[in-house]
Amino acid sequence: MKKALLHKLAFLLILLFPASLVLAEFQRAENGMVSSRSDIASEVGKNILEQGGNAIDAAVAVGFALAVVYPSAGNIGGGGFMVIRTADGQVYTQDAREKAPLTASRDMFLDSDGELDRQLSRSSLQATGVPGSVAGLLDALERFGTMSREQVLAPAIQLAETGIVLNEDIAGQFQRNLRTFQQYPASLEVFSNNGEAYQAGDLWQQPDLAATLTLISAFGRDGFYKGPVADMLVTSMQANNGLISHSDLESYEPVWREPVHGVYRGYDIWSMPAPSSGGVLLVQMLNMLEAYNLTEIGWGSAETVHLMVEAQRRAYADRAEYLGDPDFYNVPSAMLTSKLYARQRFADFDPEAASLSDDIGAGSWPQESTQTTHYSIIDTEGNAVAVTTTLNSTYGNKFVVPGAGFLLNNEMDDFSSKPNTANGSGLLGGVANEIQPSKRMLSSMTPTIVTQNDNVFLVTGSPGGSTIINTVLQVVINTIDHHMNVEDAVNSPRFHHQWQPDIIRYEADAITDQTVAELRAMGHQGISRSRFPLGDANSIMLIDNVLEGVSDPRNVGGVAGF
Ligand code: GLY
Repeated sequence: MKKALLHKLAFLLILLFPASLVLAEFQRAENGMVSSRSDIASEVGKNILEQGGNAIDAAVAVGFALAVVYPSAGNIGGGGFMVIRTADGQVYTQDAREKAPLTASRDMFLDSDGELDRQLSRSSLQATGVPGSVAGLLDALERFGTMSREQVLAPAIQLAETGIVLNEDIAGQFQRNLRTFQQYPASLEVFSNNGEAYQAGDLWQQPDLAATLTLISAFGRDGFYKGPVADMLVTSMQANNGLISHSDLESYEPVWREPVHGVYRGYDIWSMPAPSSGGVLLVQMLNMLEAYNLTEIGWGSAETVHLMVEAQRRAYADRAEYLGDPDFYNVPSAMLTSKLYARQRFADFDPEAASLSDDIGAGSWPQESTQTTHYSIIDTEGNAVAVTTTLNSTYGNKFVVPGAGFLLNNEMDDFSSKPNTANGSGLLGGVANEIQPSKRMLSSMTPTIVTQNDNVFLVTGSPGGSTIINTVLQVVINTIDHHMNVEDAVNSPRFHHQWQPDIIRYEADAITDQTVAELRAMGHQGISRSRFPLGDANSIMLIDNVLEGVSDPRNVGGVAGF
């Protein structure tokens, strides 16, 4: 296309999707709503809803749009999970998680001394799992959508082709990661301005990604898992010791799984089953806490923090032992989410004293924030969708497939590559989550829908690696126990404990100095301020037929409702 025409289109697009436009972080609406990490993507979803599409059409359009406008986590080269509640009250969960390639093996990330090679498991092309996002989004559209593939992909293609004006947030991310992108020519080409850092206000176009999305629009999953895009991906793998083959790509299928269901104080909790640990741990922790009157004990009190940390400690310890891909390992989900098990597991809880996490294994705290992204959607008919999607680390393994314009994930690091050795999220694991060919790596993503009396009450979820489940736990407890509206429930500062390391991390004001002192007196020794914000819970609540949406103020984002 001629450059002048492109710029004209870009100008029109900027009028439609001004990147500098910061939508309200909190909004009320009557009909439909989208809350995501990007105001542009939320606007794309809202437009689809306004055009008569349902929440699933909007979720697919937002998913592809995020791959263009929020490339650090929005993706077509990664994977994700989707929880759908249709207006007739049925709940479905889709697993579009990446899979280990067919030639992957248990010890592939161990060096000759048997030590974990972290560079290999996080920053190489061997770190890439077979991508699931494209197959997942298209499958959800076919099963539940009302619009055509071309309709829902059009906004993403247009955004990639004509470009967006970079805001401070995205330009700043590109600047901070410039040195990492320099290691791969195609990554440098996409994320720099001819080798120089992009600045806020620059027009950013992605012609290769637009071409890939156009192939997906024309040929469906075959536009990605076969043909020129697949060829380019496999060529990159072969040139860089990667494992993904044409067979891996062609055989990838998303899986519809039974949702995890729990009941907490009369509210129904619907969330993601294994291979995510999110839903199981969320319900397990809620079950442990249900016996205590958190409303009375009060938000932020030492007693409440102690109770919640002890529930977190036990649930995350179980994660390391029992959770993995259910197609390969017998995950005892029913036991872990039962009220009886919660009572037994919490029987040794001492209201006066901290327990000690088992000392085995050298868990460590993640050094950089793990990048994933969550969006929530409710439509006019009452369909609700919660989607969490990821490349694992920020910008995945930083490798853009030359000619195809998209980033590859480094999700293989979510496996337990060496027993009791921490992965990038500081999480431990064992046999349940060891690497096997075609197995899905364990996740913490927790897209969740809460219903009350058969009506949608809350749609929520978050990024944040190991911290995701505790973010969702706190949003749910804030709404149900502390009767907060969605804005306060999401804005309220959070804390996190994950069994190992035996540390409570907290955001400013989540725990006061007085509470820290009280917790120390109970025996909680490792208590410190988190260097990173905990989570980004873009959520929507339905109260008296009014939608209230919030994009988490910890990051730029947008709510778009009508
Ligand atoms: N990659 C983060 C997760 O799936 O939990």
